[in-house]
Amino acid sequence: MFRIARLKPATALWVLTLVITALLAAYAAWLFYGTPHPRGSGSTVTSSITTITTPVTSTEHTTWSNTSTTTAVSARTEYFIIGNTVYLPLPRQVSNVTVEEAILWRRSLREYKDEPLTLTQLSMILWAAQGITDPARRFRAAPSAGATYPLVLYVVVGDRGVLLEPGKYLRAGVYRYDVMKHALTLVRDGDLRGELAKASLNQPWVRDAPVDLVLCAVFERTTRVYGERGIRYVYMEAGHAAQNVYLMATALGLGTVVVGAFHDDWVASVVKAGKDESPLYVIPVGVPKEVKHPSFQEIDSWYSSQRGGG
Ligand SMILES: Cc1cc2nc3c(=O)[nH]c(=O)nc-3n(C[C@H](O)[C@H](O)[C@H](O)COP(=O)(O)O)c2cc1C
Repeated sequence: MFRIARLKPATALWVLTLVITALLAAYAAWLFYGTPHPRGSGSTVTSSITTITTPVTSTEHTTWSNTSTTTAVSARTEYFIIGNTVYLPLPRQVSNVTVEEAILWRRSLREYKDEPLTLTQLSMILWAAQGITDPARRFRAAPSAGATYPLVLYVVVGDRGVLLEPGKYLRAGVYRYDVMKHALTLVRDGDLRGELAKASLNQPWVRDAPVDLVLCAVFERTTRVYGERGIRYVYMEAGHAAQNVYLMATALGLGTVVVGAFHDDWVASVVKAGKDESPLYVIPVGVPKEVKHPSFQEIDSWYSSQRGGG
């Protein structure tokens, strides 16, 4: 301090400017990358499970959940249904497919067997799209401009579309994915796939898949930070999330296709989207009728022939 006090005024001003700039930069970096995400309830899966272990009186719960809510809360394959909320099995490694294989085998598949998804498969698909991968900062599986996270996911579940356990299915309806709890909340009852397909220019795969995801975005979350440019960021992010769905589906032996051709307002009304939520993709997911797994050898031969090497 003594030395600084003896600096010439111009030098002292320069040093002071440097210090203030450094402090401002550090603060901006902390704000941008270091703080937990401001939205969300802030409650964790652990705290949700704690509440579930208390006796549950809801008839809803007794009629359509598994009965072991008071046991094995740490068993990650467990699911819980309380009222209108389905706490999904927590994410874990469920396949041995490498990322190279998933990329090589990924294909848009539009024909599905008349078979349900398991709840674990649905759980993994949702986690791949928007699940938490950095709990400290609440960062998600897909990148997001400035971690503004504009995406909102709905799941349209058909009759016998999701198997909970042998002989027991998830209630058909529209569910909203709760990112922070890794849970689904029922927002509308009934099998809405037919209506969703009509809203999607009658594309049959939307009606035939046991489950359709509807990826929506709240543009304002991103444009309030980035202005007009935020619009393109939101579309980019939807692509990232959708590709994660493709890759996870491939790893699980499931089939999917992204559908961009639909009537926006109609799709929004099917899932009861909020006024500020715009649908960007409808994504059917099912057990494919046919899967082809090309080999790297095939790709190798093709590139070689392109290069004239035969
Ligand atoms: C933005 C976008 C919109 C799409 N919309 C539809 C659609 O409405 N219906 C459909 O069946 N496929 C749709 N697709 C899937 C493409 O048809 C598919 O990706 C393309 O035929 C290449 O096949 P592949 O995904 O197996 O590589 C869409 C793909 C993108 C990227």
